[in-house]
Amino acid sequence: MTPVAPARDRLRIAIQKSGRLADPARALLASCGLTWRESRDRLFCYGETLPIDLLLVRDDDIPGLIADGVCDFGVVGRNVLAEQDAGRVAHDQASAFREWRALGFGKCRLAVAVPEGWSWQGPAQLSGMRVATSYPALLSRWLADQGVAAEVAFLSGSVEIAPRLGQADAVCDIVSSGGTLAANQLKPVATLFESEAVLAGPVAELDAIRGELAALLLRRLDGALRMRHSKLLMFQAPREVLPSLLPLLPDADAPTVMRVDGAEDLALQALCHGAVTWQRLEELKRAGARGLMVLSVEGMLA
Ligand code: PRP
Ligand code: ZN
Repeated sequence: MTPVAPARDRLRIAIQKSGRLADPARALLASCGLTWRESRDRLFCYGETLPIDLLLVRDDDIPGLIADGVCDFGVVGRNVLAEQDAGRVAHDQASAFREWRALGFGKCRLAVAVPEGWSWQGPAQLSGMRVATSYPALLSRWLADQGVAAEVAFLSGSVEIAPRLGQADAVCDIVSSGGTLAANQLKPVATLFESEAVLAGPVAELDAIRGELAALLLRRLDGALRMRHSKLLMFQAPREVLPSLLPLLPDADAPTVMRVDGAEDLALQALCHGAVTWQRLEELKRAGARGLMVLSVEGMLA
């Protein structure tokens, strides 16, 4: 029998305690206006401005916390969720997670890597070999898809040194910058899965109170994600050059156009969601804009 969890009126989000996703996850949630009081052991952060608490854990524990209903959300690599789901599917179980939002950081890929000296001819080359990984379900599925019979050796960490230690012929691991592979004289040869940090939750619906909090959080998160790369661009320009200026605005919403008292030129302001680079500013200037000013956006609510 499944134990009945006591009803909660606070939302709980699991994030990585330390590691690649820890700081960006916290910064993103803070940009949604959440603040916390930290417990002495730094495992639990009590939400102050809103009843939304953080649980600081190992990333590999996040899927379990979501699946068990201990946390309502988790910020975790899609790769970690996919591995758990692949394991469930292999046992004829449905997915336990719902991906609410892709968060745009922690981008990486799950790849097979082999010693630098190998000349790679394709997956069939792995036949009869031993491949070390922390992602046995995803690797097994990929090998089966490729029709390759190789041995999957599970290692919970330090996968990259397995070939040098003679524990495996090849590895299947997360590659971000590629630095770890290079340092271990390995080269990536096949990508199994592209990943980034996501906000995930259980498949089951939340109760009314937490559901409302979740909706509020998602609304703020959408604003935060949208404004992360957004800039407000302000400038002046003669009316006749507008047709050539407007297409140069990087992914901009319809600009506000104002008349400047006593001047011929118009003043414009445009919210740009694309990158406002120096090069783009120079192009705008050449096209007739002047007094260009780029401002960061602190908040946005659609
Ligand atoms: C992954 C992977 C490598 C490293 C690769 O570990 O296992 O060790 O990142 O990154 P690089 O290509 O930039 O060198 P991760 O940071 O996800 O930690 P974990 O496996 O211990 O959770
Ligand atoms: Zn991990």
